[in-house]
Amino acid sequence: MIYEKSRSFAQILDKQDSLATYRDEFHYPKDNYNNELIYFAGNSLGLQPKRVHDYITKELFIWSEKGVLGQEERWISFHERLTKSTAKLVGALNQEVVVMNALTVNIHLLLISFYQPKKKKYKIMIEKDAFPSDYYAVKSQIKLHGFEPDSALIELIPRKNEKILRHEDIISAIETHGDELAVIYLGGVNYYTGQAFDLEQITKAGKEKESIVGFNLAHSVGNLPLSLHDWGVDFSSWCTYKYLCAGPGSPSGVFIHERHHEWDGPRLLGWWGHNKDTRFEMSSKFDPILTAEGWQISNAPIMGMAPLLASMAIYNKVGMDAIRKKGKNLSSYMEYLITQFLPSVNIITPKSRGCQLSLSISGGKDIYYYLLRNGIVCDWRNPDVIRVAPHPLFNKYCEVFDFVKILRNAIER
Ligand SMILES: Cc1ncc(COP(=O)(O)O)c(C=O)c1O
Repeated sequence: MIYEKSRSFAQILDKQDSLATYRDEFHYPKDNYNNELIYFAGNSLGLQPKRVHDYITKELFIWSEKGVLGQEERWISFHERLTKSTAKLVGALNQEVVVMNALTVNIHLLLISFYQPKKKKYKIMIEKDAFPSDYYAVKSQIKLHGFEPDSALIELIPRKNEKILRHEDIISAIETHGDELAVIYLGGVNYYTGQAFDLEQITKAGKEKESIVGFNLAHSVGNLPLSLHDWGVDFSSWCTYKYLCAGPGSPSGVFIHERHHEWDGPRLLGWWGHNKDTRFEMSSKFDPILTAEGWQISNAPIMGMAPLLASMAIYNKVGMDAIRKKGKNLSSYMEYLITQFLPSVNIITPKSRGCQLSLSISGGKDIYYYLLRNGIVCDWRNPDVIRVAPHPLFNKYCEVFDFVKILRNAIER
């Protein structure tokens, strides 16, 4: 699309936006004078869908009216209400997904099963500057399996004086180290740079080397279309409080490819992974559900899942194609305006991305606080990046325009 520099052009884009009405389905944060903020932190914590209140109230009501009888009638299978929409969102078969626990907990559960180091094939590959929790999880799993992170962790590092990884370098590192690689574990979109990796090609390269390929999709789900089943990914997990707008600490999603469902390898067990038909016979012998649900440990947090049901109803209705299209337009439009008005700002996010842009600006932290004081909600990540992520379901093009104007004021001050 050919963009123009005026605010009236942003207004035209908003008028043409087929998703514009969805903003009304969310509570939009305001300042102390009741003015709407510009909320560009959907990559951190998505906004609250207005219907969340009804979804939670319903469960509270059933609990108050029925007590444990609600369990049998409704809550035992509550997580199954999320199966279809979750599978659609990540391109999986229904039996390949389950919502449970929190993200880092799931990463541990998945690595316990899928990181099975052999004498020569014992390494894990991760992208440098992955999210700290990913480092901690991977390093602790390496130690738990009797190896040392110094020798067993391979970090993908950008070339000298470059901030992002080149796709060809990732593939060539997999080819070079493949014989030693037990697991390739990358973020689908790097949380810091906003770079989206080519998950299909990475999976292909990893599987050719007979490595297990798993992704942390915290910054991909609800942001980019995914085809985890067709790509042949082994496992993935993601949180639902970012783009999916399910609220602080909401439960995480998990994908496990169907080829692993007859699993007889290591796995941490709990009663919720037991065959549903006989679970309440309370046998001490574990009989697993032969789907991703076999990795469940505990019964589902109903009050945490209810908001996710509310937001997934919106995602399901809109579909990832439309969400992706607008996300791409929002970030391209922002990139255009920054390039036009603020040539000193270094956009480190490459074209391969979702809707987040990471801006490296000298004096960045002061500028971040100026933005905050002037009604912009985005975030600062050490050492030098302001992350800005307009959300396709609730942000307007005019907000992108106004943001760039305020950023310009901050820099020219
Ligand atoms: C890439 C990535 N990994 C891990 C985490 C940790 O998530 P949790 O606290 O839900 O385990 C986050 C949270 O923002 C994240 O962005």
